[in-house]
Order: sequence, then C-alpha cells, then structure tokens
Amino acid sequence: MVDVILGLQWGDEGKGKIVDYFAPHYDIIARFQGGPNAGHTLYVNNQKVVLHQIPSGIFHQNTINIIGNGVVLDPVTLKKECEKVASFGIDVKKNLFISERTNLIVPTHRALDKASEMQKGESKIGSTLKGIGPAYMDKTGRNALRVGDLLNKNFTTQYIKLRLKHQKLLDNFHFIEDITAWEEEFFEAIEFLRSFNIVNGEYFVNNKIAEGKKVLAEGAQGSMLDIDFGTFPFVTSSNTISAGVCTGLGVSPKQINDVLGVTKAYCTRVGGGPFPTELFDATGEELRKIGNEFGATTGRPRRCGWIDLVALKYACMINGVTKVVMTKADVLDSFDTLNVCTAYGINGENYNEVPYQMDKVAIEPVYKALAGWHTDSSILKDAASLPANMSNYIAFINQFIGAPVKYVSNGPGREQIISL
Ligand code: GDP
Ligand code: IMO
Ligand code: MG
Repeated sequence: MVDVILGLQWGDEGKGKIVDYFAPHYDIIARFQGGPNAGHTLYVNNQKVVLHQIPSGIFHQNTINIIGNGVVLDPVTLKKECEKVASFGIDVKKNLFISERTNLIVPTHRALDKASEMQKGESKIGSTLKGIGPAYMDKTGRNALRVGDLLNKNFTTQYIKLRLKHQKLLDNFHFIEDITAWEEEFFEAIEFLRSFNIVNGEYFVNNKIAEGKKVLAEGAQGSMLDIDFGTFPFVTSSNTISAGVCTGLGVSPKQINDVLGVTKAYCTRVGGGPFPTELFDATGEELRKIGNEFGATTGRPRRCGWIDLVALKYACMINGVTKVVMTKADVLDSFDTLNVCTAYGINGENYNEVPYQMDKVAIEPVYKALAGWHTDSSILKDAASLPANMSNYIAFINQFIGAPVKYVSNGPGREQIISL
C-alpha cells in the first residue's frame, strides 16, 4: 500500500514538514521525481534542516528511505547532504537506498541549464540551475547515465562520451565557463555514491509492499509545475502529480491509496511564469514577511498572493486527492480580510477552468472576501479551538474544491499540526 504526499500549488507548500510528521506511521519514505531543485524544510531538535535529495523520513531511525528511479540525482548535493544529516547522529547509509535506475545529474547538465536560461533572457523559466531540465532531456533522449552504471567498469568512458556531446551543445550556447572544479567534486561524490545501498528499486519497493509494509511517496515541486499539467513552459521537467508515483517507483496504480495534497492557506511561486492571484502591493509584502517566503533552495524571494481555488480544484482533480493538508494558516492570523479566488475573469467572462496557456491570457481573478480570524493560531492544539472564521475559511475551501481539508498546519514545528 502506498500513500502519497505532494504539493498542489507551485511548490514549497510545506511538504517536507508534513512528510516528517507522518513518517513514523510508515516503513518506507520514497522520493519519486525531481532532484536537488527541491528544498524541503524540517525542524530536528529545533534546528532547521533543508533536504534536497534525501527523503524527509531520514531523521526517523526505523524508517527506510529510498530515492526512486524517477528522481534525477546530483551526487555532489547528495554527499553534502549526507554529511549534514550525519552531523545529527543519523547513520545515513543504513537507512538510505538508491534505485539503480535513478538518472544522474552530471556537471555539464548544470552548465547547460545555466546556458539555456541565459539564452532565454527575459523569458527565462527561472530554473533553480541545478541541471534538472538537461538531465531529464538526457533521460527521454536516451543518453543518460544512471546510478547502476557506476558499477560498470566503463563508467568513466560513458561519462566522457556524454560530456563530449554536451560540450558541442555548450559551444553552441557560447558557454565558456570553466567547470573543472565541478567535475573534480563530481568524481569525489561518485566514489562516495558507490558505497551506498544501490538496489533494484522496483523489486525493493514491491517486495516490501508484499510483506505488508507501508510506503509514503514524497512529492517534490507542485502540481502546477508538472511537466504536462502545469503552467508550461514555466514548469519543471518531471511529472509531479500522483501518476508520477507509479512511473517514478515502479508501483502499480492499484497500490495507490491515500493522496494527501498539501496547499498553503495562501499561495506562492518562485521563478517565472503566470500566477493569477499574485499581489504586488503591501499585502503581498506582508505575506512574504510574515510567511518568511524566501526559497529554501535558492534564497530567492517568493512571489506571494491569495489562494487560487480554480487552480487548487484542478490540482485535486488530476491527483485524485483524498485529503488536503493546509499549511501556514498561522501566516494569515493578522489579516482583516482574506480573498479566495473563485473564478478567472478572461475578456470580461468568468471561467472556472485552468486555461491551456495561462501565460498567454490576461486573467483577472474573481475573489470572494472572507473574514480573517485575528487569533494567534500558532498555539492552537485541536480542532475544537479553531476560531470560527478559520473554520469558515476552511469550510468554504472544502466545499469549493470538493476535497476535505483534514489537517491544518499552524507553524513550522513538528508538533504544530491540527487534525480536523
Ligand atoms: P516544501 O518544499 O514543500 O517542503 O516547503 P519549503 O520547505 O520549501 O517551504 C515551506 C516553509 O514554510 C519552510 O520554511 C517551513 O519551515 C515553513 N512551514 C511549513 N509549515 C508551516 C506552517 O504551518 N506555518 C509556518 N509559519 N511555516 C511553515
Ligand atoms: P519544492 O520541492 C518551488 C521552480 C523553479 C522554476 C521552475 C523550473 O521545494 O517544492 P527547475 O530547476 O525545476 O528546472 O525549475 O520550477 N521550482 C520550484 N519552485 N519549489 C520547488 O521545489 C521547485 N523546484 C523547481 O523556481 O520556476
Ligand atoms: Mg521547497
């Protein structure tokens, strides 16, 4: 049986904290897509940790963590992250497994990401520059190196072949930066990676399922960044939605049970691309300040706005969300009025569906104004203590999106979550 936790917006919904919270109820936590573009924040012994490659169950001693085949893995990031996690007294190698089919990010992928973004100029995606797009291109282009290849004697030859191919592309981009230092740390990290538990991921996971073990699949990014269903081309390069769990781990759709969708009580986006409810005024600034909305991977300020129920309903539909987790409710504590977007106004007409090319149409969000709750919600412990206006806010969202909000997160701490 596999449950899923994934983002319903444009990423950074607080998935890391939620996975960490639920991890004790599972035997295995599995990343199924994305790579070091992810930044999942957890608090361990009141200390902040941001995970990019390692699943967010790593701090639970009895939980197995697996990096699935659908992930793109940067060995350099992994090595640094393992050192960080080990500093908490965690035996990373004992509890972390990596699928042999996982694709590798090589230094030239990062260079190509940078070169491609530079060439796009004004219309750049705002990628995290971690090499995600080029690495997935090599996967679908059938050129990639995979973790299992590390065990081949001719790995270096394979690497050189790919590097030469990339060099031609970099020459076309007139990319002249010296990446020797990146390559040196890459090969050091490759040695480190060789000492890991490299497994046949699909058998590993399915055998555990057959033994009755419970698997939690941890999504990265968010549904509106999905390569097929997001705001293309301002998206990432993987399927971030629940369907990605099957291809990213090698499990059958029949195994998928609960899909927990995580949304902020408002909305943010980092990088370029359409964002209909974005606020450019003092309210947006206030959300950024109170919510501390700065990227966990790149440190960039996140764009902030009201919750977009049109996009949220769409995300629930394509993911088959069974339960919604609403995070950062506490960030809205001091606002008098909370706007929720219930339709998109396009050319004077109201639409309740996400358009094909959001970036090509002028969208005027239609808002329903709801009253704020003016309560310090961060100290609340149970559903009974929720202020009436917070309950109303949640009830309105439930009814609109047709999926129930079952948990409200009211602070970054592990214990700050209320079951409804
Ligand atoms: P992820 O990528 O979805 O895991 O989310 P990030 O870690 O990138 O960003 C979420 C940020 O919000 C992190 O700094 C978390 O510590 C913080 N956070 C998570 N849940 C809550 C919450 O309920 N309230 C507040 N105030 N912060 C939260
Ligand atoms: P988590 O897992 C927020 C965004 C980038 C950019 C676009 C493409 O922490 O929620 P990429 O590097 O994937 O080619 O960038 O996607 N992006 C994210 N935004 N959270 C993330 O991950 C993101 N991963 C990528 O900012 O707009
Ligand atoms: Mg993040």
